[in-house]
Amino acid sequence: MEIRKITESITGVGVRDTQIDLFEGIYDVPEGMLYNSYVIKDNLTAVVDSVAENFGAEWLENISKVTDKVDYLIVQHVEPDHSANVKLLTDKFPDAKVVASAKAFDFIKQFYGADYSDRRVVVKEGDTLDLGTHKLRFVGAPMVHWPEVIMTYDTTDKAFFSADAFGKFGELEGDEWACEARRYYFGIVGKYGAQVQELLKKASALDIKMILPLHGPILTENLGYYLGLYNTWSSYGVESEGVAIAYTSVYGNTKRTVEKLARLLEAKGCPKVAVSDLARDDMAEAVEDAFRYGKIILATTTYNNDIFPFMREFIADLTERNFQKKTIGIIENGTWAPNAAKKIKAAFENSKDITFTQTTVTLKSALNEASEAQLERLADEILA
Ligand code: FEO
Repeated sequence: MEIRKITESITGVGVRDTQIDLFEGIYDVPEGMLYNSYVIKDNLTAVVDSVAENFGAEWLENISKVTDKVDYLIVQHVEPDHSANVKLLTDKFPDAKVVASAKAFDFIKQFYGADYSDRRVVVKEGDTLDLGTHKLRFVGAPMVHWPEVIMTYDTTDKAFFSADAFGKFGELEGDEWACEARRYYFGIVGKYGAQVQELLKKASALDIKMILPLHGPILTENLGYYLGLYNTWSSYGVESEGVAIAYTSVYGNTKRTVEKLARLLEAKGCPKVAVSDLARDDMAEAVEDAFRYGKIILATTTYNNDIFPFMREFIADLTERNFQKKTIGIIENGTWAPNAAKKIKAAFENSKDITFTQTTVTLKSALNEASEAQLERLADEILA
């Protein structure tokens, strides 16, 4: 990836990964990933974070176009997509000091066997690093997305280096940001809403002119939009009016019922119905939709006297991410002993502020007159 001058002193030296199949071994990234890294050039020069394993040579070449000396390597986050080439840089620049939290040094040792005892600068919340004109202040951000994370605020350029926060899959900018940023957020950080709220509180006390994340585009305009979305997401609020429907279907009857419900909802004025087939569509897309809207319908088959496997996985994806403050309606199907609704309700028993609709649609194999009436009632209730 070409280097990018961001301010007089800050240059992006990250890389683009177009070959990756699954990010973090789980997420589809059809548009690839950016691993951002930054050089802050001053009397003393700092590099902020490294890049993923396969891109060390390209990264060093990018750095060499900007500076021939490195005084500090700031490691904000030790997940290997950002730390895999720390040692490459410290070998090339033996005088460079490594700046990170105490826990980050533990993790660096675990991953790479290096402890940097003779060249480490341990920093925590509120500590500063003076590069000359640029004074950097560190912001603790545990669990956004790992416990060792520190973020960095450049008080001179008002630039906030936000580690994984405000990152996204792919690299599209502008209006497209929210789509892949939301899937990234709920997939990767969704569980840690409380910690993101803490971070937003700290960020609100800073005069931020630009956000420089480790993935995706640099954000320089309309920052209130991005901060507002992060506030909604991390407080498990409703981002968009509408209904998300997630379903599994074995022989097509549950699917036909879902399609009928979607038409009913739209006819009754629902502004958006987002339907996901959990067996075939991207699970992470279904997860982001479940968090995006305030109301969801789960439609599934009873299977081995439990919930059909893809739905079971989906519900676990939600509950382990602290899914809360939602209304859920259920469509269950079972030829001789439909039992999925009971199992679904039990699966959410430890989730906060979940309301189930009064109406549950029970199919015994296929829609009939009685279940059609239930479907109509469910549509009215979920829209009420
Ligand atoms: Fe981009 Fe949590 O690593």
